[in-house]
Amino acid sequence: MKILPTKVLDSFFTEEEFRYMKSLPFLYSEINDGTFYDPIFKFRPDIQEKLPRSLVRRYLAFNDNPQFPDVNRILKNAVQKHFGPNLYIGASHILTAFYPYLAHSDAVYGEFGIDDKHYGAYTLIIPLDNFESNTVIFNEYSEKTKVVNVYAEGREPIYKIDDEFYNRYLTHEAKECMNHLSVETVYPWRANTCLAMSRYKFHGSDDFFSHGIPYKQAVIMWTYSPY
Ligand SMILES: [Fe+2]
Repeated sequence: MKILPTKVLDSFFTEEEFRYMKSLPFLYSEINDGTFYDPIFKFRPDIQEKLPRSLVRRYLAFNDNPQFPDVNRILKNAVQKHFGPNLYIGASHILTAFYPYLAHSDAVYGEFGIDDKHYGAYTLIIPLDNFESNTVIFNEYSEKTKVVNVYAEGREPIYKIDDEFYNRYLTHEAKECMNHLSVETVYPWRANTCLAMSRYKFHGSDDFFSHGIPYKQAVIMWTYSPY
């Protein structure tokens, strides 16, 4: 495992590339994959009752699919331009989120390029527009599990997240889980900026659903690098 430092970049794509990327979810909307995912509501039974089976998110996956030669070329060029030749794209997609992700990490062994010779480098998030929503990046990390409940097993809570922060950003999360984490930074979703954070770090959305934001949309990539 190797933990890369968190960065935020401006102008990730050129204007022309960005316009093209923005057009994709609409051009290819028929192959977006609707996901019904009840467990995400487990900490909010009130919402589960209101939305018994709701569309939580859609993915438009690229992943070197030859159906998307232009997309894959644009993504590769942009990643190389900003990060050099040793950052490889393990997976890429456009996420349209209607309900916030719970805190998780993006890097367990064997997942999207991670093996004995390669570590999980950055998760990249490039919002396709300005959205009144944020990604919260925590200091804690794991290479063994992607979920906070498992990370918390056998650990004492650290109580670093106060009520003010919790109420502002994290009302979709279980307080008991958040008591095991501390906040590194908050990334506001601004069009064509890029959040680069270690895949091993826990991170998650703010509770944009409860703030009346109908959806948010971004290019997401999981990258890996040689040790
Ligand atoms: Fe993630």
